[in-house]
Amino acid sequence: MIYRDFGTTGIQLSQLGFGAMRFPLTEEYDPTSIDEVKATEMLYYAIDHGVNYVDNAWPYHREMSEEYLGKALQRGYRDKVYLATKMPMWLIKSKEDRQKYFDEQRRRLQSDRIDMYLLHSLGTNSWNAAKQYDVLDFLETMKAQDKIGHIGFSFHDKLNVFKEIVDAYPWTFCLIFLNYVDDEFQAGIEGLEYAHKRGMAVMVMEPLRGGKLCHNVRPEITRIITQTGRGQTAAEFALRWILDRPEVCCVLSGMTTLHHVKENIKFALIEHRNTLSHQERKLYVRAKAFFKARIKVSCTECGYCSGCAQKIPIPYILNLYNDAYIFDAFEQSRWAYRVFVKPENRADNCTACGECEEKCPQNIKIAEMLEKAHKELSVGQ
Ligand SMILES: NC(=O)c1ccc[n+]([C@@H]2O[C@H](COP(=O)([O-])OP(=O)(O)OC[C@H]3O[C@@H](n4cnc5c(N)ncnc54)[C@H](OP(=O)(O)O)[C@@H]3O)[C@@H](O)[C@H]2O)c1
Repeated sequence: MIYRDFGTTGIQLSQLGFGAMRFPLTEEYDPTSIDEVKATEMLYYAIDHGVNYVDNAWPYHREMSEEYLGKALQRGYRDKVYLATKMPMWLIKSKEDRQKYFDEQRRRLQSDRIDMYLLHSLGTNSWNAAKQYDVLDFLETMKAQDKIGHIGFSFHDKLNVFKEIVDAYPWTFCLIFLNYVDDEFQAGIEGLEYAHKRGMAVMVMEPLRGGKLCHNVRPEITRIITQTGRGQTAAEFALRWILDRPEVCCVLSGMTTLHHVKENIKFALIEHRNTLSHQERKLYVRAKAFFKARIKVSCTECGYCSGCAQKIPIPYILNLYNDAYIFDAFEQSRWAYRVFVKPENRADNCTACGECEEKCPQNIKIAEMLEKAHKELSVGQ
């Protein structure tokens, strides 16, 4: 395993981190049904092979991920990793809430100390809430009591907001959304360089765009990947673009199978900093252009929008809509919409209440997109 500096702390983190957001399930559509046997096998394999950073958060697996992870790490694994979780900023409505959620997370994780603690999904509104409720003062106090090791934030908003937040506090680290298709989206490459220059460790999430960059790979993309001459998979092609950047400390992958874990670890055993040729960079630009021309909605299925009052499976529907265009899979998407989404939960039941849009880290105009998706997916029904 290759390790990289965690900012200026002297800590070395594995360049591949384990994201605790996409564990395997026993029931396909129930995110709470973590398949603990398989998940634990994956987790232990990763840790036994050098992964030393595990990233969690309050809402993952509809609040079951922290509880599960706390249990799984007990068998001698807790001290082998740096454990990260995040304060659910959208739930902080008073100063008392800071302690309430922090203590509950420590209980769930069976850990008095959270090594790396992030403010979750900062953007304009949540940053204002952090200031209103003196959240950073609270975290400083917890740090002084050694209940937190390092303070950071994850980010989903525009670049100027990112820079403002970076400059506002001496953060140790941040977590940004980055992949070769979204290099100019949210913080993007400019944000990566900006934070790195200020001595922060920068972690990357959704490097495979939630899997979209390596599923059902179109022949056009396969051809581009083949031209790199590296005999690599689409997942490797995407991860390589991230790990080529020396400013990246650790790339998080939300792995769902032991096969993913093994493949990604094998890849992380190699040094990738500054290894892309000029020619290869051009190939990434072509691949990006291919996807950009087809993606309809920038949904990564992170699931933050869950809890729709109409029980509309928003990420699932937006994903079907995207797939129809990216992969010319209109018939398959329409079929899945008809078969898997009950009429009372289809997109035309959206009341545009706006609750999901407030939670969406990609700032997607969900109501508008659902309307378009329904129009496309209900053709012939
Ligand atoms: N703080 C925030 O706001 C925030 C938001 C999002 C994510 N995160 C964190 O960042 C982590 C990483 O994001 P992500 O889970 O979206 O990562 P990602 O790497 O973009 O997507 C993970 C998905 O990629 C596929 N995959 C992974 N390795 C693969 C391989 N070797 N070959 C083929 N497919 C592979 C799997 O999809 P299939 O299972 O469908 O095959 C997997 O579920 C999360 O787990 C979470 O910890 C944080």
